[in-house]
Amino acid sequence: MKLKILVTAGDGVGPEVTNEAVAVLKEVASAGGHTFEFDAKRIGGVAIVQDGTPLPAETVAAALSSDAVLLGAVGGNEFNSMPADKRPEAGLLGIRSALGGFANLRPAFAFKELAINSPLRPEIVEGADILFVRELLGGLYFGKPREWNKEKKEAWNTMRYTREEVARVARIAFQLAQKRKKKLTSVDKANVLEVSQLWRATVNEVAAEFPDVTVEHQYVDAMSMHLMNRPRDFDVVLTENLFGDILTDESSVITGSMGMLPSATLGGKVNLYEPVHGSAPDIAGKGLANPVGAIMSAALLLRHSAGLEKEAVSIETAVRKVLEQGFRTTDLVRGKAQGLTVLSTTEMGAKVREAVKLLLA
Ligand code: IPM
Ligand code: MN
Repeated sequence: MKLKILVTAGDGVGPEVTNEAVAVLKEVASAGGHTFEFDAKRIGGVAIVQDGTPLPAETVAAALSSDAVLLGAVGGNEFNSMPADKRPEAGLLGIRSALGGFANLRPAFAFKELAINSPLRPEIVEGADILFVRELLGGLYFGKPREWNKEKKEAWNTMRYTREEVARVARIAFQLAQKRKKKLTSVDKANVLEVSQLWRATVNEVAAEFPDVTVEHQYVDAMSMHLMNRPRDFDVVLTENLFGDILTDESSVITGSMGMLPSATLGGKVNLYEPVHGSAPDIAGKGLANPVGAIMSAALLLRHSAGLEKEAVSIETAVRKVLEQGFRTTDLVRGKAQGLTVLSTTEMGAKVREAVKLLLA
């Protein structure tokens, strides 16, 4: 198998964690005789500084001519006072829209070994395994009109969806539910918003194509509570863009650390893989970042962009094994690290790699 992967490491801890993900991918390639070619391009703050824009045209061109893009993270405190369309985040939103992926898959699952890390009681989180499908190209993030009118001292954004935009992401969520527990929860605010009423009606229409999947609808406010009270009751959760942004951060507490969580954005010209965590400037360059979110994103890349299911599972299993053996990055240690071995970013990457090698041998 031949694969061209573009790495856009970005800012903060992005380069450290993507390095480890790339190293794991190289291990997989050499174990299976695959050829993975890696190219690197700038995005985010590092691109603002060096190229004067958060998303250089060269990066977009390279992304569009690759088989998959692996992204680190963007953002830094020094850019916080810039207007929204000039900030590092604009680079991320720009590459998302250039690639065209509209379905952002964000798993939130509990690891037995990490149950103690969650602020929720172990009996609540144990066994929780949710797959969020967040619509990524619509809603308030991209809806027009949008403006901050400084004279009028007024600002507005638009939450807008077409039926087709809802239907296409709903279809992906239903297909994923068919391969899981066949339960889909759609999140909206249909008691107040017209756009949510369209969302709900469309999800119900699409549901008719998937009679084997049970559908329920939840209001976003209630859902934010249910996720903390009874996370095990949910399987696939379908949301619009902003609701999904918020609920997936909230649900990272199920896992105990956001550093563990991967994401995949599907449906466009080229799929995009990125850890859910941000650039974490406070710990950047210190070897403290958890590379597992990026490494698990590489597993999703193998699954969804290369059809290498066995290899994807080997990475996911390797991560579990490393946790079972008591290895942790600092974000995964609560209180005293009794019986645990605290590792740096590169050491954690190396442990996962060793375990992958054994599993694929
Ligand atoms: C995320 C991030 C981004 C988003 C930001 C950095 C633009 O929070 O991937 O969840 O809001 O989508
Ligand atoms: Mn977010």
